[in-house]
Amino acid sequence: MKNNKTGLVLLAMFGLCLAAPPLAAAQEAIYLHQIPVVRGIVFAGSGSELGTFLVGTAQGPVSVAPDGQVKRLSDKAGVLSVLVAHPTAPGVLFSSGYRSKSEKLGVIRSDDGGRTWARISRAAAGPVAFHAMAIDAADPAVMYGVAEAIHVSRDSGKTWAPINSPPAQVFDIAVSAKTPKTLYAATREGLFRSLDDGVSWVLAHPDKRPAPIVRVTEDGRVFTFLYGLGLMVREAQGLNWTLVSDQFADRALLDFAIDPGNPQQMLAAVDTGAVVLSRDGGKNWISFEGQLDRTPARVAAGERLFNKNCQACHGTKGIGEKPGEPGARDEDGLPLAPAMDDSAHAWHHPDEQIIATILNGSSRNPRMLAWKNHGLTRDDAQSLVAYIKSLWNFRSLACQGSRHMRCMH
Ligand code: HEC
Repeated sequence: MKNNKTGLVLLAMFGLCLAAPPLAAAQEAIYLHQIPVVRGIVFAGSGSELGTFLVGTAQGPVSVAPDGQVKRLSDKAGVLSVLVAHPTAPGVLFSSGYRSKSEKLGVIRSDDGGRTWARISRAAAGPVAFHAMAIDAADPAVMYGVAEAIHVSRDSGKTWAPINSPPAQVFDIAVSAKTPKTLYAATREGLFRSLDDGVSWVLAHPDKRPAPIVRVTEDGRVFTFLYGLGLMVREAQGLNWTLVSDQFADRALLDFAIDPGNPQQMLAAVDTGAVVLSRDGGKNWISFEGQLDRTPARVAAGERLFNKNCQACHGTKGIGEKPGEPGARDEDGLPLAPAMDDSAHAWHHPDEQIIATILNGSSRNPRMLAWKNHGLTRDDAQSLVAYIKSLWNFRSLACQGSRHMRCMH
């Protein structure tokens, strides 16, 4: 029952792009956390530091700087439902999706890093809107796309033909760079593998939970996400799966990318639409929002500031002034200092709003001072936010800000 419900939620996400509101006026800076849904994450640089990366959105392809600022690359590409990069040719991207509610894009290609796009195939009468694509790193002329069925192209995306699909709705596809003809399909009923280029499929992991994503690295490791279990990996040549992380609580990863310049660095999109980052090969995840401040040194500085200035009201480790009584009020009838950890709703606000509250205080309650008048700088406030967010679990990080409405069910 739970599995079926998840399948529906995952499916609903594929449709969300069309309902997304337009990005704000061009001159206003836009940040990744303001974009409701990303479809496809592509690392653009190859250094070991996190550089600029690209994502597909309802507003076409955008580039994202490490501080989260978003630049729209093309306003003509369409509503993208997937974004993949050619494994060897720099700047070559493929995508699919919708031009309008009723018109599908087919397969589109960019040769200049996402600035200009041309339709290279309808892929099927209709044309098609793939929600997942994969390119064979061993032979990049071979590509796979998933709509209702899995399709294959052997001429760099110009012509496509359907192949057999596993016996469950397919969410994602990956192709092995190491073993010829080996495909993986992440489905509503588990992860499947084919050793004969899609002629026959068997379960690749014994658990038949919904699997929204699958990725194969160039060295042959297979990553998948199994709903309710977490992020799993199978080593090249290996038979057994290892749990990389189960910190995702009731959330699911719907997209996943490994930085080719630093395989310990990974980005993922959660079912809430939030983008999360791992710097340790997928074990620990932080929100991409505020990631530049999320260093051990800043968290430690934030903790010192918190213990000195805030703990007296907001409690040890931010548990709140009266942890057992969330509705408690002071003698003036005003609410007590709320928890800063997961238990209240500090996480309903984006980073900037928390920073503003710290610097400017509360207009409703004089007990919460404007700390900019009491010796704290913006930099201090950023450290405090880094510390406060280190107290949050994955769910609060994934549900931060306007996304909290999606986490109320
Ligand atoms: C004297 C008690 C007191 C101290 C000290 C204090 N606060 Fe507060 N804080 C409050 C109260 C009370 C509120 C609730 C304000 C309201 O209801 O508008 C609050 C609200 C907040 C909020 C908004 C929470 C939300 O969910 O919207 C943040 C963020 C916050 N405080 C951070 C801090 C930080 C960081 C410090 C230390 C620099 C600090 N506070 C120090 C009493 C305090």
